[in-house]
Amino acid sequence: MEINKTLSIIKPDAMKSKLQGKILDYLENKGFKIIAQKKMRLTKKQAETFYAIHKDRPFFNELIEFMISGDISVQVLEADNAVSHYREVMGNTDPANADEGTLRKLYGNNIQCNAVHGSDSQENANIEINFFFSKLEVIN
Ligand code: CMP
Repeated sequence: MEINKTLSIIKPDAMKSKLQGKILDYLENKGFKIIAQKKMRLTKKQAETFYAIHKDRPFFNELIEFMISGDISVQVLEADNAVSHYREVMGNTDPANADEGTLRKLYGNNIQCNAVHGSDSQENANIEINFFFSKLEVIN
């Protein structure tokens, strides 16, 4: 096992439902160390850049409107195999198909408003961490 980092976003639906504390508690209990964190609201341009990989998907515009509709809370998390561990505890993109006990099953509403985002590979985790945080903001 290797200790590494992943990027987590608590999305506007979960923030509006005041689930930030519950989600952070869940993640700490699952062994993640929060080594950087910020609350912010994305601009349209920032959201489009972050989700550029999905720009040709039919849900892109709706996704952007959702992601800028309220505050988000963004974390850099450290754990053994952080990327795959987070994806396990996050669950399927669609909360209806997520395993019991996963974050999206517990707190997601639907395939778009699914409570949290987690990086899908180590390469993307590094890109996403650098998108939101400077080196100075991340505890090493
Ligand atoms: P996330 O893991 O942040 O990555 C892309 C996001 O697009 C995803 O979570 C969902 O919020 C959203 N998404 C993915 N598939 C769909 C879909 N079929 N319809 C609407 N939104 C989607």
